[in-house]
Amino acid sequence: MNILLLGSGGREHAMAYKISQSPHCQKLFIAPGNAGTTACGTNVSLDPMDFEAVKRFVADNHVGMVVVGPEAPLVAGIADSFDADPLLRNTRVVGPSQKGAELEGSKDFAKAFMERHQIPTAAYRTFEPATVAEGERFLESLEAPYVLKADGLAAGKGVLIISDLDEAKRELHNMLEGGKFGQAGAKVVIEQYLSGIEMSVFVLTDGRNYKILPSAKDYKRIGEGDTGLNTGGMGSVSPVPFADKEFMKKVEKLIVRPTVRGLQKEKISYRGFIFIGLMCCNMDSPEGPDPYVIEYNARMGDPETESVFPRIKSDVVELLEHTADGTLDEAVLDIDPRYAACVMMVAKGYPEKYAKGRPISGLNSVEGSLVFHAGTKVGEDGQVLTAGGRVACVTTLSESLPEALLKCYNAIDCISWQGKTYRRDIGQDLLKLMIG
Ligand code: AMP
Ligand code: GLY
Repeated sequence: MNILLLGSGGREHAMAYKISQSPHCQKLFIAPGNAGTTACGTNVSLDPMDFEAVKRFVADNHVGMVVVGPEAPLVAGIADSFDADPLLRNTRVVGPSQKGAELEGSKDFAKAFMERHQIPTAAYRTFEPATVAEGERFLESLEAPYVLKADGLAAGKGVLIISDLDEAKRELHNMLEGGKFGQAGAKVVIEQYLSGIEMSVFVLTDGRNYKILPSAKDYKRIGEGDTGLNTGGMGSVSPVPFADKEFMKKVEKLIVRPTVRGLQKEKISYRGFIFIGLMCCNMDSPEGPDPYVIEYNARMGDPETESVFPRIKSDVVELLEHTADGTLDEAVLDIDPRYAACVMMVAKGYPEKYAKGRPISGLNSVEGSLVFHAGTKVGEDGQVLTAGGRVACVTTLSESLPEALLKCYNAIDCISWQGKTYRRDIGQDLLKLMIG
């Protein structure tokens, strides 16, 4: 089967790496891909948001399955667009319907969904410009810090956590009336602040059956010790050591099962990944931590995929086919028990202003670890150049987390370009928790 993978990040390189290993994959196309994905298949210069162009390519190249990496085409309805096309209705699409992608595309929809299905999450209310005064009163009823979320997609920047009540009120006005975050901020979810440890759970579902993929923790802030601006993600670790069997049973019972059943009950077509961002509260409780959903995403995480996918030992194409066909109960999910550590290298200045076009050296000198490209491109002379803020990452698998981290950082030393920046403390918080 020919497969088209949409996207261009480290997530897509890690997916392409696994997909290309499958004997079921004849030709793999990645649109638009990056310099790294050229080692797994053929990059195609297509905009994933241009559905007509994507569909033409699929028809012309006998593509049997489309795998959607990022959220934007899902939220814009790419799966429905294939479904509505008589000639392409039988092309498998891995990615939820537009309604399903609303779990990520609208925080208000996601919160109401969780409320309808009694899924644990922070208490909340949603406000619009007409109810801004009520929003102020609601803020007054809460304790600091205040959590304000733009309802729509805001490139990961739409969540504000503010300790001062007056500032929170000002920001509420800025979002609802001042156009901060544009249309995404036309509705604002205000919710109770939860304190605990964050982690991510990934579910592959055909809308009825599901498989829980390995858990992971990502590191969102630019600075060591979780300081500074939020980024797309500076590294990840899988599995999360405290998310043991007992805890994952709790997550399955309280969150995963009700989520999939909820989609089914509401007749929301969902064949793809659900990324569940959790806050684990009451870490010291004798019954173990309590999981609360912070957010849903309708896709895999980046850079979580770079530590989760290398741990999937089963044939990934078979898993994706079963997902698209609604037969995930027949699929086998075999997981590598080893730890995976992933460290992202970014351009100096990211997530603010940074340079592009810097030549990268040493990408092929890494041994015993995987290199996944994110923002890279091939220059005119064949040299790999930086082309984004997050440039490339290294993933290392090992029996123990300390060893995975050590080997990963050794591999990071092999790669260089002017302005290469990375966090040196990925996984350190988990190591401390393990020691107690
Ligand atoms: P989100 O885009 O909803 O994942 O939010 C971005 C980040 O804000 C999360 O990764 C958390 O670190 C933080 N956050 C979101 N909601 C809450 C909450 N209710 N309590 C504490 N932190 C939160
Ligand atoms: N790593 C967080 C995300 O993919 O949204």
